[in-house]
Order: sequence, then C-alpha cells, then structure tokens
Amino acid sequence: MTPQVLIRNVRLYGEGDPVDVLLGDEQILAVGTDLEVGDDAEIVDGTGQIMLPGFVDLHTHLREPGREDTETVDSGSAAAARGGYTAVFAMANTDPVADSVVVTDHVWRRGREVGLVDVHPVGAVTVGLEGKQLAEMGTMAAGVGGVRMFSDDGKCVYDPLLMRRALEYSASLGVLIAQHAEEPRLTVGAVAHEGPTAARLGLAGWPRAAEESIVARDALLARDAGARVHICHASTAGTVELVRWARSQGIAISAEVTPHHLLLDDSRLESYDGINRVNPPLRERSDVEALRRGLADGTIDCVATDHAPHAEQDKCCEFSQARPGMLGLETALSVVIETMVRPGLLDWRGVAKVMSERPAQIVGLDDQGRPLDVGEPANVVLVDPDTEWTVHGPDLASISHNTPYEDMTLPGRVTTTVLRGRITARDGEVFPRTGER
Ligand code: NCD
Ligand code: ZN
Repeated sequence: MTPQVLIRNVRLYGEGDPVDVLLGDEQILAVGTDLEVGDDAEIVDGTGQIMLPGFVDLHTHLREPGREDTETVDSGSAAAARGGYTAVFAMANTDPVADSVVVTDHVWRRGREVGLVDVHPVGAVTVGLEGKQLAEMGTMAAGVGGVRMFSDDGKCVYDPLLMRRALEYSASLGVLIAQHAEEPRLTVGAVAHEGPTAARLGLAGWPRAAEESIVARDALLARDAGARVHICHASTAGTVELVRWARSQGIAISAEVTPHHLLLDDSRLESYDGINRVNPPLRERSDVEALRRGLADGTIDCVATDHAPHAEQDKCCEFSQARPGMLGLETALSVVIETMVRPGLLDWRGVAKVMSERPAQIVGLDDQGRPLDVGEPANVVLVDPDTEWTVHGPDLASISHNTPYEDMTLPGRVTTTVLRGRITARDGEVFPRTGER
C-alpha cells in the first residue's frame, strides 16, 4: 500500500478558497478543510499552489529502443513526471519501429517498471513506417500494452488508399489514427517554413499547403470511413480553419498544437542554429496567433509536446543537416502559461482541459484527465503559478539537452506530480519504482 498523501491548503483549478486533499492508494479520498490523517501520511504544503489533473501527452518520443544515447523510457519518464505528466504516448519511430506487439509491449512494460508515468506505446500504422503495408494493428491493440493510438509520426501516411484502409481498420478496432500531415512531394529537401525568412536565409522551404492538403484529405477520408482522425502538431492558420470546417461537417477530427508552435516563429532561424529545426517548421507570427486563438476557442483540442530528444552532434551542426525536433516535456506547462494564461486566452480550467482532459478523452483513457473529486483517480499535479525559472538544458532530466528555450526565463512550475496516489516528482526530484535511474 502506498502511504496516504495529504496536500494542505491548495486551490483546485486555481478557484475558490484553499482546501486539503487526501490522496489514497489510487483514489482521491477526501476534499475538505483541516483534514486529519495518520502518522505515516506524507504531508505536502500546497499554500499558494494550484491543483490540476495530471497532464496527458499524446506526442512524446522516448527513443527506446534504438537511440538510448538520446533518451530512454527511464529518462523520458523522469522528464515527464517533472513536467507534471501522469501519462504519455510514446511514438513508434524507434529502431526497431514499434510496428509489432513485441516492441509495443516492451515499451509499456518498461514504463510500468519505472513507474513515474504511464507510458502508452503508439503503434506504427505501416510496417517499418514505410507507408507500403499496414502493420498488425489488431495484434498490438490486443497486447498487454493495449495500443489505442497508431501513427507513423516522423513520416506521413501519404498514400491515400493506404490511409483510407488504415482509417477503416481503426474504426472497427476502436483505435485512433494520428497523422503527421506532410505531403512529401511538397517538402523534398525542406528545412524551414516557406516564406520570406527562408528565402532570405537561403533555406529550402516547407509550404503550409504541404500540411493543409493532408489535413483536408484526411478529414474527407475519415468522414467516408466513419473513423476518427487526429492531427499531430498543427502548425498553420489554415490547418486551424480546416479543422474548424471539418468539425462543422460532423467529421470526427481532433488536433494538437505543440508548445513551441505557440511561442516561437521563424524569425528564430536568423542564427542558423540547428536547435530551431523542427517538423513541422516554426512558422510566421500570424500562424502563432491563429494557433493560440484556435486552442483558446477549442478548435485545437489540446497541447502535445512532440518531445523529440536529439544528440548534441545531430543538432550542433549545419542547419540543413540538423535533425528536426525539440525537447518539450519539462517546459510545456510554462510555455502554455506564457502564451495562453498570461495573455488571458485560457484560465486554469482551460489549462486542465487542453493538457489533461481533452487528450485523455481523445484516446479514451478513463483513468486520466478526470475531475478533482472524491473517488476519482489520484493522478494530480501541483503548480506554483507565481514562480519563474530559467531553462538550462543540462538541468533537465532528459539525456539530450536540445531545448529551444535555453536561457529563457519562463513563468510557473510544477512542484509535485502524483500518479495513482504515489508522489513521482517533487521539487525536481523524481521517485521511480526501480529506485534508480
Ligand atoms: C520528430 C522526431 O524527432 O522523432 N521530429 C520533429 O521534428 N517533430 C518526429 C516528428 O514528430 O515528426
Ligand atoms: Zn511529426
């Protein structure tokens, strides 16, 4: 049995008067004032802090198996717990690819052993992410890891017939297909957003239409298949409009935006620093603004980190040679506060919605993203909204250090994360089940 945890004097969703919250094994046991507990209970002072449901990340790259020099289930779980996450979805573009139950079950089991966050494996849609033949989605869905989301992320399932079949199959299995929307014929050699900045810097451009044409196509394919489709890392104003249109037609579409696309734009590329290379690329300020508005009005469902660790040698090189991707797990909340809460686009209820409730609903997790009520799962996070911190890559829990926020001072910080009644992170320290990292 996990000892009980009593959180004193905390404001739920940042609303109303502070209360005490008693967390037991698995569940929230009581919410009230001056709650009494036994001697063995762990007491956390929540004064000045906000309690939210634990965050759920639909888009994490943990690099295990294959690139354990850049991230592992262990190190990525530590980053997740420190970032306030109680569940993450580990993308399939590992080596070997997670296109079989052997790999998806391994990732799930490693996550359970480490015990810092529920690691849900994402299965590949196609064998080897090659876009030619459907992977055995049914077998992966039936494994112990119970795969509920499939994606070739890193690559687009661009063959329209194959995508149609995958959507049809997913509808009958009750699972979700998440699409990395990139028409590959429009992005040959592309390293940056196609626009004035890339033109001036002499960088090959990735046009907005490469993303938007796939979003439009897949919305129509999902409509015809009676399936749901999820759009990974929406990056353009046009994608927001297309998702809005599709939903108005009754199409079952959902979309995520990354913290970096909410904060950064392509003016960052002036330095030619590979740290800023990411797929889809950093776009223009007008896209950033549209993504913020889309997230605020619910057109974009949720924030997903696209946490993408890369080795120093793969980032610290010529811009066009740098691997695309940025760390995100430990900085996500602060970036959401900076871009959404501070400008008044979201309140704390809204943060709970986009970082926990909607992502849990999109993948059908019934033990995450739940209300902070008695009897609900004890998956919660405490946030200090008034603090600020300066980001330093080497201080983060990830093995890789490729944060685009180096030396930036960001608002708000996760102080405590609790998974099924057990503290997994507190003031930057993590408490894995294995007792070692
Ligand atoms: C991701 C990666 O490194 O695996 N890179 C990225 O730039 N986003 C793949 C992806 O999410 O497309
Ligand atoms: Zn992607």
